[in-house]
Amino acid sequence: MAERIYIFDTTLRDGEQAPGASMNLEEKLIVARQLEKLGVDVIEAGFPAASEGDFESVRRISEELEMCSVCGLSRTRKEDVEKTLKAIEPAKNPMIHIFIATSDLHLEHKLKMSREEVIESARDAIALAKKHVDNIEFSCEDASRSDPKYLTEIIAEAVKAGARVINIPDTVGYALPFEFEKLIRYLLENTVGIGRAVLSVHCHDDLGLAVANSLAGIRAGARQVECTVNGIGERAGNASLEEIVMAIHTRKDLLDFYTKIVTEQIYPASRLIRKITGYPIPPNKAVVGANAFSHEAGIHQDGVLKHKLTYEIMKPEQIGLPSNKLVLGKHSGRHAFRERLSQLGFELSDEELDQAFKKFKELADKKKEVFDEDLEILVMDEIMNIPRKYRLKYINITSGTEVMPTASVQLEIDGVLARDAEFGDGPVDATFKTITKLAGTKCKLLLYSVNAITGGTDAQGEVRCRIEENGIEVSGFGAHTDIIVASALAYIDALNHLEFKKQNLSNIKVQVP
Ligand code: KIV
Ligand code: ZN
Repeated sequence: MAERIYIFDTTLRDGEQAPGASMNLEEKLIVARQLEKLGVDVIEAGFPAASEGDFESVRRISEELEMCSVCGLSRTRKEDVEKTLKAIEPAKNPMIHIFIATSDLHLEHKLKMSREEVIESARDAIALAKKHVDNIEFSCEDASRSDPKYLTEIIAEAVKAGARVINIPDTVGYALPFEFEKLIRYLLENTVGIGRAVLSVHCHDDLGLAVANSLAGIRAGARQVECTVNGIGERAGNASLEEIVMAIHTRKDLLDFYTKIVTEQIYPASRLIRKITGYPIPPNKAVVGANAFSHEAGIHQDGVLKHKLTYEIMKPEQIGLPSNKLVLGKHSGRHAFRERLSQLGFELSDEELDQAFKKFKELADKKKEVFDEDLEILVMDEIMNIPRKYRLKYINITSGTEVMPTASVQLEIDGVLARDAEFGDGPVDATFKTITKLAGTKCKLLLYSVNAITGGTDAQGEVRCRIEENGIEVSGFGAHTDIIVASALAYIDALNHLEFKKQNLSNIKVQVP
């Protein structure tokens, strides 16, 4: 009989550690709600001892979620454990994830502790946590480069102290699938008491093997996988949730397992993470890339038209990809609007829908065709409730080989109109300089990227930018058929997020010693 694989989602913790992917409290709550809809078993909501912002997010997510277990990450230090326990206290199904490194490399150079001291530290932390919460996961950081014999010793102690889940991370993405499978088998066969815990795997993608290693772990007996939506995470990222889930789903013939993931929520979750973190999804990304279900070669198109299975191993509907590219316009009614939002994974309250519909009508008046990407932005703004201090009223650009690039921009700032113009090295530079002057901001532009959206909306350009002011970093996002307008929208979006974040200073990370 098929066995269940538990999905431990760490998008909000390990995923958020990807450079520039940090999210504020509102954004984390939105992601957590979507993860619950997606049906993940555990949400690792943050690292409470790392910052006040993380503490607050873990606590708020714990208060709000009904179904999944909410987990906080903790080092073995007493203060960390206590802080994490406090953060997860309101959760219906609280879980604490305690970790310490186990490889000699980490012990010698990072922790400066002996093997015995590490075991003692893990044992004490688990025992302390056990007085307050039953669901404890223990991770051996850098397990894939640790002495397997030593792993059996520390894991046996962790289980004895009360750990319910033992997680084996390939922290630096170093393992090869056959090697990782062998390690998991060895641990299951040689660790005293391991039968009382669930074995979990947590793989990074430095060699592009995170998903393969996770599946190898499952083959060897692991029954929980840790992963992130779109595979976001530190360096090359974490194992991608959608790839693991769809591999299990699609290859039932060889993988006799199941998950509780609502696969139709994969695409909405992926789009949401992309929008909130600003991390673009490569068009050729497995499962959720824009080209994952498009067939370009004539011979493939011919085959798919004759019989879909000739070149398609999954159906787009299975991951919740809307099968039609419906474009709304000013004649579209409230019903069509709600229907499309629902297909994109957004369920709005009546009040939110009223507001969003009003904005949609305003947008449709200006723009002939309203694409899914426009709807996402519009709705995200509505549900995130980001106050719009700055709004773009108009932008005119002069650019070419024989003229000095010039931008003339009108903004509405706190309801008051202001306009100005600037020269620049190019049209984007001129646009940003003008907006910077109008907003009177001292922010620095850290990142600017343009992406073309393929698959029916080729004419749309997506711009993502990241700005920083006084240590506060935020992303902005804009989509438009004109990439200069998209750039202006992205920059203004970032300025609005900056204003919002300034008023929520508790979200700023504090340095972890
Ligand atoms: O990659 C890793 O080792 C981790 C641990 C904290 C589980 O993220
Ligand atoms: Zn990790």
